[in-house]
Amino acid sequence: MMRTNSIYPTVLEAGKKGNTRFLDLGCCMGTDVRKLVHDGYPASHVFGCDLRQEYIELGHELFGDADRCPIRFFTSNVFDLPTTVDSATRNTVVPEPSTVTALAQLRGVLTHIYTGALFHLFDEETQYGLAARLVTLLERSPGAIIFGRHQGLLEEGYINDALGRNRYGHSEKSWPRLWKKVFAEAEGEAFAQRIVVRTEVREQFKETFRAKEPLYMLYWSVQIL
Ligand SMILES: C[S@@+](CC[C@H](N)C(=O)[O-])C[C@H]1O[C@@H](n2cnc3c(N)ncnc32)[C@H](O)[C@@H]1O
Repeated sequence: MMRTNSIYPTVLEAGKKGNTRFLDLGCCMGTDVRKLVHDGYPASHVFGCDLRQEYIELGHELFGDADRCPIRFFTSNVFDLPTTVDSATRNTVVPEPSTVTALAQLRGVLTHIYTGALFHLFDEETQYGLAARLVTLLERSPGAIIFGRHQGLLEEGYINDALGRNRYGHSEKSWPRLWKKVFAEAEGEAFAQRIVVRTEVREQFKETFRAKEPLYMLYWSVQIL
């Protein structure tokens, strides 16, 4: 799914030139990052993080690469990160990938961050907190990108969730507002002006889930100019 995001070729080309670092947060079995590496992004610059170690192990089993996978997979809960970072807590040195065991080690050093089907698990406030935490991990450099896909709505509001969970759906209008606000709080209004947010809504999975209502997925990217 990650490769169908319209910013994917830009991310891939930057990765191939070197000196970038990529994180898939909520990578599950790591299919997207393995595809990224297959497409040419240097594996030694790619991290996959999930809450659950068993998903990472199942990924190794599925792909048969436990003894030779060059991607650094590790477990962390993104909500263990603080929502703000200052120059004292931002890393200035990029850690050796094999030593990375927690998200906190990647504060301020990631060029590319992807989240697939993660934001839509949460309510509105938690989605804001998640975005703020991703911003603490991102490099403050032109070309740095956070991108992803998750369920959204044509008009923002709560998703009609079959299991009764509190899941918020952003729209193409509300999603850029969230990111502008997060960057303004982290770095000030002037910096937030340098952020370009792209969104695209696609109607998907109606057949797969035999859904009665259309299901809208938000494909998006946030780029520092
Ligand atoms: C619905 S799956 C999406 C998997 C994959 N990224 C995709 O696009 O299909 C969400 C993933 O996020 C992980 N996750 C959920 N909460 C998390 C958290 N707080 N920190 C890190 N990962 C989390 C889950 O374990 C799960 O693997």
